[in-house]
Amino acid sequence: MTIQDELSSTIADLVGPDRGILAADESAPTIEKRFRAIDVESTEDSRREYRSLILSAPGLGEFISGVILFEETLGQTSLEGQPIPELLKSQHIVPGIKVDKGKKPMVNAPGDEITFGLDGLHDRLESYKAQGARFAKWRDVFHISDTLPSRTAVEANAEVLARYAAVCQSCGIVPIVEPEVLMDGHHSLARCAEVSEEVLREVFNALARHRIQLEHMILKPSMVTPGKDNPHAAPSEVADATLTIFKRVVPAAVPGIFFLSGGQTPEEATANLNALNSHGPQPWALSFSYGRALQEPAQKAWAGKLENREAAQEALLKRARLNSGARSGKYQAALED
Ligand code: 13P
Repeated sequence: MTIQDELSSTIADLVGPDRGILAADESAPTIEKRFRAIDVESTEDSRREYRSLILSAPGLGEFISGVILFEETLGQTSLEGQPIPELLKSQHIVPGIKVDKGKKPMVNAPGDEITFGLDGLHDRLESYKAQGARFAKWRDVFHISDTLPSRTAVEANAEVLARYAAVCQSCGIVPIVEPEVLMDGHHSLARCAEVSEEVLREVFNALARHRIQLEHMILKPSMVTPGKDNPHAAPSEVADATLTIFKRVVPAAVPGIFFLSGGQTPEEATANLNALNSHGPQPWALSFSYGRALQEPAQKAWAGKLENREAAQEALLKRARLNSGARSGKYQAALED
């Protein structure tokens, strides 16, 4: 297969109807935080047990087309001894990998952060590909205040995101481009729309500068919402605000927009995706690439005990099924019961 064929077939497998992506790529500090919330110590064994049991949920591939893994998980075996990428393939799920090295405060831009991880990226991608990964993820974050993000941070983060995407495509790996505008704070919906539009515009400028094939990437953005410390907006308001700016700045050649959940509750994230898909046909598939909104109920059900395996799998399958319905506007709150 040529590199172009590899990219096309991965896009076809990830973006088809009714399915979305499970983000199970929490870094060591993040998974430690999630496990602390359920009183479980994060060790290599506990992480392997938890991830192995959710990824082997029977029939997961009906609703999930791809899973983003953390490097550690890509090299692990399931509790049954099967390499995790093989387990995913047996579920008709494409294995993916988080490749950024996390964010740090940006020098000379107080309050902003920048994502690291370009050094050695080509060689890492080649070795992840040999282990079975077919797509990758890189996350930039943007804080909102009256003055943040600075223009410097918007431009610098867009540049690294585009350079990452170029290296991925040269290796036959589909890049997920994730510019996350954070929900933290008490900004209005209008301020979030303003920042999101500026960020996305700059990201697509950078992608064009680096000659990214838009047909062979997936955008993973945040939805346009008010800050967490404000009352939450209704799903129809979130959908209107989000679609308004996306129509302005996301080219129709992008095959899929797979949203992150970013701190929305599982129910909110599903209702908002449903509203986005209830506004008639759009140029791009609108789907989910949720971490917390898919996994939180499963983590609570597992609570660090292997005997809760089936309850945890059922909790994950329930959210995956409801979000699958939301891809075509078929979700209703009554289905939660
Ligand atoms: P959340 O859905 O929990 O925001 O996670 C998605 C993700 O991959 C963040 O990088």
